[in-house]
Amino acid sequence: ASTYEGAVPQGTSQKTVQTISKKVTILYGSQTGNAQGLAQAGGKTLEEKGFEVTVSSMNDFKPNQLKKIQNLLIVVSTHGEGDPPDNALSFHEFLHSKRAPKLEDLHFSVLSLGDSSYEFFCQTGKEFDSKLEELGGKRLHPRMDCDLDYDEPAAEWLEGVLEGLSSLQGSFMSVPDPSGAPKAEGTDYSRTNPFQAEILESVNLNGRGSNKETTHIELSLEGSGLSFEPGDSLGIYPSNDPALVDLVIGEMSWDPDEIVTVNKQGDVRSLKEALTSFFEITVITKPLLEQAAKISENQKLKELLSPGHEGELKEYLSGRDLLDILRDFGPWGVPAQEILSILRKIPGRLYSIASSLAANPDEVHLTIGAVRYESHGRARSGVCSILCAERLQPGDRIPVYVQSNQNFKLPGNPETPIIMVGPGTGIAPFRSFMQEREETGAEGKSWLFFGDQHFVTDFLYQTEWQKWIKDGILTKMDVAFSRDTEEKVYVQHRMLDQSKELFAWLQEGAVIYVCGDEKNMAHDVHNTLLDIIEKEGGLSREKAEEYLSQMQQDKRYQRDVY
Ligand code: 2AM
Repeated sequence: ASTYEGAVPQGTSQKTVQTISKKVTILYGSQTGNAQGLAQAGGKTLEEKGFEVTVSSMNDFKPNQLKKIQNLLIVVSTHGEGDPPDNALSFHEFLHSKRAPKLEDLHFSVLSLGDSSYEFFCQTGKEFDSKLEELGGKRLHPRMDCDLDYDEPAAEWLEGVLEGLSSLQGSFMSVPDPSGAPKAEGTDYSRTNPFQAEILESVNLNGRGSNKETTHIELSLEGSGLSFEPGDSLGIYPSNDPALVDLVIGEMSWDPDEIVTVNKQGDVRSLKEALTSFFEITVITKPLLEQAAKISENQKLKELLSPGHEGELKEYLSGRDLLDILRDFGPWGVPAQEILSILRKIPGRLYSIASSLAANPDEVHLTIGAVRYESHGRARSGVCSILCAERLQPGDRIPVYVQSNQNFKLPGNPETPIIMVGPGTGIAPFRSFMQEREETGAEGKSWLFFGDQHFVTDFLYQTEWQKWIKDGILTKMDVAFSRDTEEKVYVQHRMLDQSKELFAWLQEGAVIYVCGDEKNMAHDVHNTLLDIIEKEGGLSREKAEEYLSQMQQDKRYQRDVY
């Protein structure tokens, strides 16, 4: 507020008018923290320009305040099949309900984050944008949809918003330096300036004969100044599989040593290095195909992108990579540089951190499931997971950054009971939680639900959990090994077996955490929670849904799902 005061022309009669229009509310909906980071950085910039800014999670915002807002900025991501982030759910629902007020006095703009390799790209942002217009709001600046590499478009959007806000006030304000990402305190390292972390150790947690390969990897943060809390994630910038890079270069008869430009700043590398460490070559998006169609004469490609072929296009995009496109849609009479110019930058991969700094100072541990599959007649592999499983050795270095996740945090009160549901690699943050609680002497009860295929080969960190149980750090543990018995048992079956006690914990104020696969597991666990609340609470389905959504609102039901 003080910066705003300083910006008001003293002694003019316009003071009240400006007081109102200088207020800006920024609401974010964020699952992994990107939208939150942008909202906070944007808020700071606007404050520096003299605006009086309130930045808040949609979850913490009281919808009955909406009518009082004049300038609203929405920063929201989309995930899964076009779904809002958890902390945007209730506000999203409110706006789309009959209770949503008319908003004729509102000026707004939406920044939406997404991934163009998904069908419902930026869907949630689009929904907020059209809903606010439908309710009578006027756009300060058009919506900006950002792909994975969002820094530049987000900065451009903020500039546009500032111009919009300024023209509302009828005064010119200078535009900000679009320098991008916020920096964590005490370090120069960030998503846009990653730290080269040394690999200390790397082991496969699964036993011989398992269908799975889960890499436990320990990295050193020494000298980085980076810190994190349990629940946060580590971003890794991986490099592509050199065998795939060679295939691409061979397919095009390119010269691997040709010097190419890798970014707008004009940095140069050899073509081989560029394809290995700078560009995404394993995922194909619709915008990429559209760009490709501009530099290829291929008729099949043009047809695939023409109206009426949406189904085919969707099918084509799934499970294919750059090599497929190059093979399928030639001939390409263009230099390598032109192909590079249509590729996305390699995005960082986020992994839930599996260690606590209190227990392992200067270290960060991860639990990474190896992704291998076959599609369209070729073996494919997850870029980062296979890099970690097969190629990274102790002593190597890899670019990393810390991504804070405020949606997945241990309770502030160390005595609050916690319930942790984390099958497979979903176990990672709970190892961090337990290390932290042990190290800090937290006394709250804790209960783990873990599941995987086989007890003998797949019980990740088995001895650690058993020790925590023995020492009373972990109060209860229930495991579900799905392929040891004829009939499959999953974590949610174990939860249901103990529904009475589980509900009692909830009634005592326990926080429940779910981490792991979103599409199947988290969805089924959610429904099981509803079943439990309905049954043990003697509630209707509708009331059980209210109960759970209130828990979500109160941050007592937190999810880190992928
Ligand atoms: P499955 O592969 O034998 O079906 C970790 O991957 C564990 O999660 C495995 O035991 C896996 O079982 C299980 N799993 C698969 N689908 C699930 C679901 N919908 N809900 C809970 N667990 C599931």
